[in-house]
Amino acid sequence: MSNRMWGGRFAAGPDAIMEEINASIGFDQRLFRQDITGSIAHANMLAATGIIADADRDAIVAGLAELHGEIEGQKFTFSRALEDIHMNVESALRERIGDPAGRLHTARSRNDQIATDFKLYVRDVIDTLGEQVLALQAALVDRADEEAGTVMPGFTHLQSAQPVTLGHHLLAYVEMLGRDASRLRDARARMNESPLGTAALAGTSFPIDRHMTAEELGFDRPAANSLDAVADRDFVLETLSAATICAIHLSRFAEELVIWSSAQFRFVQLSDKFSTGSSIMPQKRNPDAAELVRAKVGRIFGAFTSLTLVMKGLPMTYSKDMQEDKEVAFDAFDSLSLALAAMTGMVKDMSFNRDAMLAAAGSGFSTATDLADWLVRELNMPFRDAHHVTGAIVALAEKKGCGLDGLTIEDLKQVDERINSKVFSVLSVEKSVASRTSYGGTSPENVRQQVARWRDLLG
Ligand code: ARG
Repeated sequence: MSNRMWGGRFAAGPDAIMEEINASIGFDQRLFRQDITGSIAHANMLAATGIIADADRDAIVAGLAELHGEIEGQKFTFSRALEDIHMNVESALRERIGDPAGRLHTARSRNDQIATDFKLYVRDVIDTLGEQVLALQAALVDRADEEAGTVMPGFTHLQSAQPVTLGHHLLAYVEMLGRDASRLRDARARMNESPLGTAALAGTSFPIDRHMTAEELGFDRPAANSLDAVADRDFVLETLSAATICAIHLSRFAEELVIWSSAQFRFVQLSDKFSTGSSIMPQKRNPDAAELVRAKVGRIFGAFTSLTLVMKGLPMTYSKDMQEDKEVAFDAFDSLSLALAAMTGMVKDMSFNRDAMLAAAGSGFSTATDLADWLVRELNMPFRDAHHVTGAIVALAEKKGCGLDGLTIEDLKQVDERINSKVFSVLSVEKSVASRTSYGGTSPENVRQQVARWRDLLG
């Protein structure tokens, strides 16, 4: 049997393989809410402009509302023969209300319909992800407040560099997530133009009111060029790119949690709720959730590259290739949402081992820069000379097998006799972090100020 939605000129139905490659209902049924909402807006507009009768609109709107309830209550069976969500909805509407259903598709095409449905969906995704990012930021800010004065090693090249505060380290992620939230907001603002009513590609001869449907669907305005409106998937790409960057941030933090929770570091213990055991090694506590968060960026970036390659070189306007935008995007958005939830759970529950962090903070002569700065400040040495003198002192400490604060004043004077015992005031890690009060620096005082700033911003 040929398709009743478009089969007028077809004598035979599709080959089974054709149906299999063509049908999208298996995944685009997720768009049923957006599809029905878009159709209701369209029907309202068709009646308001006199294109269909009010009675037909009433039947359409009531039928769609009923169908919405059925699908939501999982009392509806989708048909693959009907290809996609648009034709499943329209056919089900016809079964319920008869002829008026046939008037719904006036001045509209599946091309503007899918662009509208998917925009509405991505817009909701952006809002949900945005809230999840804020929740993770809030959790990090709370932990940063508790750990404002906790000293840990700061790393470059994963080598101990200078002591920092744990609160400062956690707030670094709050900044990154702040940019993620802002990228999502930007994408939302840019995408918020309605494709509905651009029809197949050229617009329509019916006297439709695209401003009316745009407003009803919460868009800022109708898209200005019909060709662009049906051919555009920038909104998916842009959101996937923002999602990828956010996933990179989560992945970097997850990697730190994996390292920090190892027996060699012991900086952090993940809660039982976010760890797993080993079936053979009873002593193990594995950071599986962190590892999976670290991994998720693979499929999220995968979706971005996949859709980039699908869109590359497509001629104007709609091509069926574009149906391949959905599965990967759904998976990417679901993955990021889950990763954000898992990370928020881990952050709230994990416990920090302050002693291990403090002990590690002092290793590797991490206050050598403080010593060099002291030589500059107190002895008026040029920084290059101070760097050289400090190097000699580090070598001496290494030879004696102690830290910089384990050297005696005689040891120090042996390298440069101008050094006096006031130098000891900068050699401890606590003094080091407390002294870093420059704007954006790691001092506990700065961390507390930034915690207050973020609490203000997050509301
Ligand atoms: N299922 C299609 C998609 O997801 C909807 C648009 C189909 N349009 C068409 N002219 N075949 O892209």
